[in-house]
Amino acid sequence: MATFRALALLAAHPNQAERAQAEIVENAGKPAPELVFLRACLLESLRLWPTTPLVLRQTTEVTEWENGTMPAETSILMLAPYFHRDDRHLDEADRFNPDLWLEPEAARDWPFIPFSGGTAICPGRRVVLTVTSHMLAKLLHGREFQLNPPTRLLSSKPMPPLLNNYDLEFQVRTQ
Ligand code: HEM
Repeated sequence: MATFRALALLAAHPNQAERAQAEIVENAGKPAPELVFLRACLLESLRLWPTTPLVLRQTTEVTEWENGTMPAETSILMLAPYFHRDDRHLDEADRFNPDLWLEPEAARDWPFIPFSGGTAICPGRRVVLTVTSHMLAKLLHGREFQLNPPTRLLSSKPMPPLLNNYDLEFQVRTQ
């Protein structure tokens, strides 16, 4: 899901696709390259359309909020899309912006939780980013992808709140 949505984003954003192609060409033939830009595209696909949209927790102690006290052992439900697209904290929260993931995490004052965080963070995150970035590189190497219809996910418009990965259709041209 994350890979095909990232592929769709790249197909609809030619400037970013050029950066992806440059990284693929630069790393072709290297045994185990870390495809930093493609990883950022994958993380963007997960920011815009988290595949695990809800993270669950239970509090261990009494918590004071601005508007009241919450007892210990309260179940909490964190909605990733709320954090990921909050335009009070993010410029252009609804746009495809892989650069968000290329800056140091400390530069951000707002959490992204595609793989959650803390002690229960997804233990599969490294394997996920390795496999998906290499899969994207294989698909894109020597090929140009266009979305069908080409008006889908236009960079001039906000990215939709949901994206059905099963109905994505591409036109592929060999370079
Ligand atoms: C796009 C792919 C994936 C995403 C976005 C993802 C995301 C997440 C998220 C958000 C959680 C919840 C963590 C929490 O409760 O705080 C989680 C848990 C977990 N994930 Fe993933 N995951 C992905 C793929 C994988 C894969 C491929 C594996 C295994 C190879 C894996 C193994 C796990 C395990 C074992 C947990 C439970 C961790 C715990 O409760 O301590 N995940 N994942």
